[in-house]
Amino acid sequence: KRVAIFISGGGSNMVKLVESMTGDHPARPVLVLSNNAGAGGLAKAAEMGVPTAVVDHRPFKGDREAFQEALQAELVKAAPDILCLAGFMRVLTASFVQNWQGRMLNIHPSLLPKYRGLHTHARALEAGDAEHGCTVHEVTPELDEGPILGQAVVPVRAGDTPDDLAARVLVQEHRLYPAVLRRFAEGNRETLRLSAE
Ligand code: GRF
Repeated sequence: KRVAIFISGGGSNMVKLVESMTGDHPARPVLVLSNNAGAGGLAKAAEMGVPTAVVDHRPFKGDREAFQEALQAELVKAAPDILCLAGFMRVLTASFVQNWQGRMLNIHPSLLPKYRGLHTHARALEAGDAEHGCTVHEVTPELDEGPILGQAVVPVRAGDTPDDLAARVLVQEHRLYPAVLRRFAEGNRETLRLSAE
């Protein structure tokens, strides 16, 4: 299976995904694409020998469809079987998602269906949740809404700041996403549940 990964920033999840696709793993990375030419993850991908591309969203201003056509043009060249969004911070509209539905994954830093959207760690703290975590789901046109493929749970500790929680969750994202991608590439759609070690 050929995997393309979309990033917007440091790409720590992308690095873990690329590192996981070795040996008898049924998938290999074929492209790392960012909407941000300054994304730190692009250099990391290049160091690991993965082809990269940039499609800056800013020249398209509000024209999401034109931006997505540029994304699609890069994907046609790379011809991936699976698309992983990993810290990708642009909303993709139904027209793009429908091209990839069933073959597109995303990682979201909350225990969906709780806390769709942004500022998930602050919202979990605000709510006084005892547990928090991350979710890998199939991408559907509704934001952060698709079938859940895996979740990892972390405890919330007294005195946690949003950054403390984000760091604890990120460690689990780095475990969860590679595990879910391998199962997905093997055709296994059973939900994986992990808890912090
Ligand atoms: C992290 O906050 C993570 O929770 C979310 O995207 C952000 C950046 O991730 N998935 P990455 O380091 O770019 O993978």
